[in-house]
Amino acid sequence: MNKPTYVTLPALPPLEEFVEYLKQIWDSKMLTNNGPFHQQFENELAKYLGVKYLSVFTNGTLALVTALQALRITGEVITTPYSFVATTHSLWWNNIKPVFADIEPDHFNLDPDKVEAAITPQTTAIMPVHVYGYPCKLERFQQIASAYGLKLIYDAAHAFGVKINGNSVLNYGDLSILSFHATKVFNTFEGGAIICPDERIKKRIDFLKNFGFVDKTTAIEPGINAKMNELQAAVGLLQLKYVDEYILKRKTIAEAYRKQLKGIAGLSFLNDIDGVSQSDTYFPIFIDSEKYGKTRDELYETLKERNIYTARYFYPLISHFPTYRGLPSARKENLPVAEKVTEQVLCLPIFPELRNSVIKEIIEVLNKPAVF
Ligand SMILES: Cc1ncc(COP(=O)(O)O)c(C=O)c1O
Repeated sequence: MNKPTYVTLPALPPLEEFVEYLKQIWDSKMLTNNGPFHQQFENELAKYLGVKYLSVFTNGTLALVTALQALRITGEVITTPYSFVATTHSLWWNNIKPVFADIEPDHFNLDPDKVEAAITPQTTAIMPVHVYGYPCKLERFQQIASAYGLKLIYDAAHAFGVKINGNSVLNYGDLSILSFHATKVFNTFEGGAIICPDERIKKRIDFLKNFGFVDKTTAIEPGINAKMNELQAAVGLLQLKYVDEYILKRKTIAEAYRKQLKGIAGLSFLNDIDGVSQSDTYFPIFIDSEKYGKTRDELYETLKERNIYTARYFYPLISHFPTYRGLPSARKENLPVAEKVTEQVLCLPIFPELRNSVIKEIIEVLNKPAVF
C-alpha cells in the first residue's frame, strides 16, 4: 500500500534558514505586539501582493470578524452557502443575520443577480468568496454595492496571489481577507490578513486586533486579540522567498490534471479565465453520476481505499449546518445551484511535493469508472 496522500501537504521553507530568524527572536525577546518581523512582513507582503495596505492576523477567521467590525456592519449580510463555514461564522460572531443567496453555475461564486434580489432594508453589506481562487463578478458586485449603498467585503482566503490583467484581486471591494492556514498556498502555520485601501482604515483595524488600544491606556472599543506573533511573521517572511516556486509546481500539477482528465463523460473541472493568473489553490472536479456511472462518494471511497484522500469542499453547504438551517434563505429551493454542486464536488490532491506516480494513479482511477 502507498503512503497516504492527502488533499494537501503544507509547503515549508528549509529549516536551516528558519533557525536564523529564531536566533533573532531569542536575542530580541520581541515575541509579539507589532514586533520587527511583524512590521517587515506587512511591508514585504503588501509589496508582493501588489496592494497598498494590509494588516496581518493570527488567522483568517479573526480577520473576517474584525473586517466586519472595522466597517461597523450590522443587520443583514448577503453571503454564499458554498464556502468554508468560517465565512458565515464571522457574521454570527458579530450578531449579524446571514442571508444566503445562490451561486452562479460557471465558477460557483455568489451570483450577483441573486444577491440583488435578496436585498432588504436591513441589508448592510455583501460578503462574497472567491471560491477556489476564481474571482467573483467584481464589477457587477461593485455596481450593486454602489447602487444600494452597501459595503463589500471579499473573503479571499483562496485567492492569494491571484491577479486580473496584472492587478491583484485583493484591490476590489471595501476590504478583502486572506488566510495563511497550513492548508493554503501560502502558510504561516496559522495566519491571515485584511487588505485595506487606505491608512485610516488600517489604523482602525490595527487597534481592533489589539483589544481596541489606540495608545497605552486608551481602549476605545472592545477589540479582540488577533495579533500575529513574531514566529508566524518570521515564517511568512521566509515563505515569501519560496511562494512563487510553490505556485509554479501547483500549476504544473493542475495542467497535468486538465490535460489527462479532458473528455471523460460526466467529469468536469474549472478552466482558467482569460487574463486571470491563478495560484491553483485547489483542483476541484465535478461528478455527474448519471453520465459518469459512479457517484462522487463512490469515487471518494475508491481513492480512499488506495490511500488517496480527496476532500469534499464544500460539502455540506453552510446552510445545512444546525446554526443556519432554520433561516428562510437556507431553504433548498432558494439555493438550487449550490445544492447540486455540493453533491458533485471532489477536490483532488494538489501541493508542491505531490509525486508524479500518485498523480498518474489518480488519473488512471478517474479514467476508469467502470472498473471500480
Ligand atoms: C473561504 C474561507 N474563509 C475563511 C477561512 C478561515 O481561515 P482560517 O483557517 O485562517 O481561520 C477559510 C479556511 O481556512 C476558508 O477556506
